[in-house]
Formats: sequence, C-alpha cells, structure tokens
Amino acid sequence: MVKLEKSGIEAWYMKDEVEDQRAENRCDPNEPVGVEELSALGVDSWKLSGTEDDKELEQIRKDQDYNYNDVITCSPEKLPNYEAKLKTFFEEHIHADPEVRYVLEGSGYFDVRDKQDRWIRIDCKEGHLITLPAGIFHRFTLDSSNYIKAMRLFQGEPVWTPINRGEGAEEHDARKLYEKAYQPSKKAKIDAGGDDKPVANGHAPEVAAEA
Ligand SMILES: [Fe+2]
Repeated sequence: MVKLEKSGIEAWYMKDEVEDQRAENRCDPNEPVGVEELSALGVDSWKLSGTEDDKELEQIRKDQDYNYNDVITCSPEKLPNYEAKLKTFFEEHIHADPEVRYVLEGSGYFDVRDKQDRWIRIDCKEGHLITLPAGIFHRFTLDSSNYIKAMRLFQGEPVWTPINRGEGAEEHDARKLYEKAYQPSKKAKIDAGGDDKPVANGHAPEVAAEA
C-alpha cells in the first residue's frame, strides 16, 4: 500500500490545564511526539496534495476499502451552533470503527491518549490524511483559524456515533480490542460473545456529530 514514511505531521504532548481548546496547549518546554510514537498507538498519517483527486488518495482508498467518503466544512458560517458543536467534538470518546480524515483546506487538532493516558495533540493541516484506530480515546477541535474542510472516509456504511469515556467506552469491544493490540500489558479480556454494536450515548448520529 502507499505509505509515505514522513507525513510531516507535527504532534506534541499537551499541558494539563486547557483553558482554550483552540490554542496549541503545548508543554513548556515543548515535548514533541514523532510519527513513530503515533504509529505505536495505531495512529498513522500521510501527506498528500490536499486535492480530492489525489492519486495516492485513490490508492489508499483502494488498499483500505474506503468505499464511502463525504466532505464536511466546519466554520462558524457553515456549521450551525458552531460553539456548541465544538464542545461536543472535544468530548473524549471512541468509535467502533477507525476515524479517517483527509484535510482539504484549513486545519484542526486531533488529540489522542497515549499509553499513560496523556494527551497528544496532532496538528492536521492541508494534505494530511490521518487514521485513528477503532477504540482509541480521542477528541477533535478546530484551531484558532476556525476553519477546516475535510474528507471523511469509511469502510462500508458510515457510523459516526461517538461513545464517550465514562459512558460505556471502557467496556466496549472496540476498546478491549484496541487495548489488546496496543496496550497488551493491560491484559484486556475480549468478550467473544459481546455485542459489537456501538452504544448510543445521546449524540445524534447526524452528519455534523463528528467533524
Ligand atoms: Fe471521533
């Protein structure tokens, strides 16, 4: 499959107290996180052209069976209830499926938890394609530019439902499978007979429920 070794994506550990979710929220001094460290969490990234007809994008879609895609724009003008939506995006959650985004214009931050439960902030800019594995705790926010246009990619029928931490996420099969794959020391037990349907948590699975 097409995989560029250096996505050029920048990531860093976040400081503990977040007053403004749209700010960089770096530690002082800065604690950078490399793409290899992200890969160890199951997070991969590519640097493409930022256009919708990118050849490498086409290859990735074939390799990964991303047969669904749509384009969403998040900005105060395009997204009704922008500030409220921003807070929803920023709630810590998982999904039963991978989250895949390709930034066409603008920028935003994906925050993911590392193995010690620390937040890593990933600076997604035009041309970045990022994949978060099913079951990883994460959140999203616009940055201070308040603008991102991104393609959402999915295998099969899209399910955007977030499962919030503290509301069933820890017990979800996707979380247990994630821990087994990326945090084997936790000795997660997989409930072989479990229901693998995502647990609804009150978020309507509407288009804008997930940026
Ligand atoms: Fe998400």
